[in-house]
Amino acid sequence: MTLPLSRRAFIASTAALSATPMLARAAAPAQPAPTPINPLVRQRADAQVFRHEDGYYYLTGSVPEYDRLVLRRSKTLAGLATAEEAVLWRHEKSGPMSGFIWAPELHQIEGRWIMYFAAGPSGGGEDVFRIRTYAIVCDGPDPMTGKWKVLGQFQAPWDSFNLDSTSFVHRGQRYFAWAQREPGIDTNSNLYIAPMASPLTLAAKATRLTIPTLDWEVRGYKVAEAPAVLHRNGRLFMTYSASATDARYCLGLMTADENADIMDANAWTKSQQPVFTTCRETSVYGPGHNSFTMDEQGRDILVYHGRDYEAIKGDPLFNPDRHTRVQRLYYKADGTPDFGVPVGNGAMPERFASAANPKLLLAHEGTRLVAGNPSLAATQFRQSSGRAGSRSVMLSPILLPDHYLVAAKDGTVTLAKDDHSGDFAMRSQFVRFTDSGSRHVRFAPIGVRGKALAAVDGRIGLANSRSAAARWLAD
Ligand code: AHR
Repeated sequence: MTLPLSRRAFIASTAALSATPMLARAAAPAQPAPTPINPLVRQRADAQVFRHEDGYYYLTGSVPEYDRLVLRRSKTLAGLATAEEAVLWRHEKSGPMSGFIWAPELHQIEGRWIMYFAAGPSGGGEDVFRIRTYAIVCDGPDPMTGKWKVLGQFQAPWDSFNLDSTSFVHRGQRYFAWAQREPGIDTNSNLYIAPMASPLTLAAKATRLTIPTLDWEVRGYKVAEAPAVLHRNGRLFMTYSASATDARYCLGLMTADENADIMDANAWTKSQQPVFTTCRETSVYGPGHNSFTMDEQGRDILVYHGRDYEAIKGDPLFNPDRHTRVQRLYYKADGTPDFGVPVGNGAMPERFASAANPKLLLAHEGTRLVAGNPSLAATQFRQSSGRAGSRSVMLSPILLPDHYLVAAKDGTVTLAKDDHSGDFAMRSQFVRFTDSGSRHVRFAPIGVRGKALAAVDGRIGLANSRSAAARWLAD
């Protein structure tokens, strides 16, 4: 698609939230960054987290009161949990922006900090769900300390319910993607995309990308909202959220080739199944409204919200417990993202591939440990502090959070529930060693000298702690 010359003047500038990672893959930090603990930030829904070229992580999101726009900043992803939060702007006392304030996103466009958000009136005869998209703009280079004022209203194709906008740069052109109710279509919202001519105007007729029609998109409400774009492996991946904001909320995915005309709806292929849904094993309900970022090692991170309980009293929209969560985003052999399951509360889990044969990962099938790769979720293990001094750790599969690896003197390693016995307390404790040169890790059971966790002939057990079988690549 070629735009009239005048509109090409709006050439994409550095995008704070870009489908393509802003930063070259960061060199591994001298000191490993702290591991984020989920939930990362309580009661911040619709979270946007990104790592800007200034090296800081920025987080914004909907607050339970829906009355203000907030922003926090941290040098580390984990640090967002305790970072100071600035209030950039509060809803107005009256008028179209005096009610709900939803789903902010921060972008740097042509050198200015702009925050998009959805807002509605506060009643008084007005429909509080008359939600439209607006933007505020910062008067200086520091979004945390600058003064913010209203830039204006997004000029949408129709004067109808619209929200959850995002912006991304692709092949030098900045695009806007958002959710909107389209006159004549009986849904709450559909997804649209268009090139931008200015921060609040479109440079071409919008393309409708999807209407919620699949069973998992229309549970409670017919919803396709909260688009987020990631550019990886020669494709654009656009996630979106579907159904009511209770446990039925989930992520869908549309994919387009990076060289396609992304303004052509036919260039996008929609997954017929949701890619990220409620997981009762890990107790995360209604995961959705995601964004993407990278950790300090340059590895992709999925950011989303989710509750840690299912039953909600009253309207889910006014339940405050959609907490911000983060987890690694992995990829399948074909280069498409593997979302796995929402990993649950606690330290972000890791995967451990055998250094002797990286195709074999520490995994489990039910309560049986295996060396293999049955599914992403079955290869994710959470490390927690041990009970035998500061260096001991315990390992637990995310799908069986009440089970732990236990080692026996006969060289077997199994999964067992904590029965609070002395025997369990002894056999579930490991010391984690990191081989500085190779970054391999080893887990030595404190009760079995000279041995370490190993993949041996496709099984999980103990082997000589110096053997290749006892070394793992943590990822
Ligand atoms: O969280 C408020 C609104 O509810 C968000 O804008 C939308 O994504 C969700 O459905």
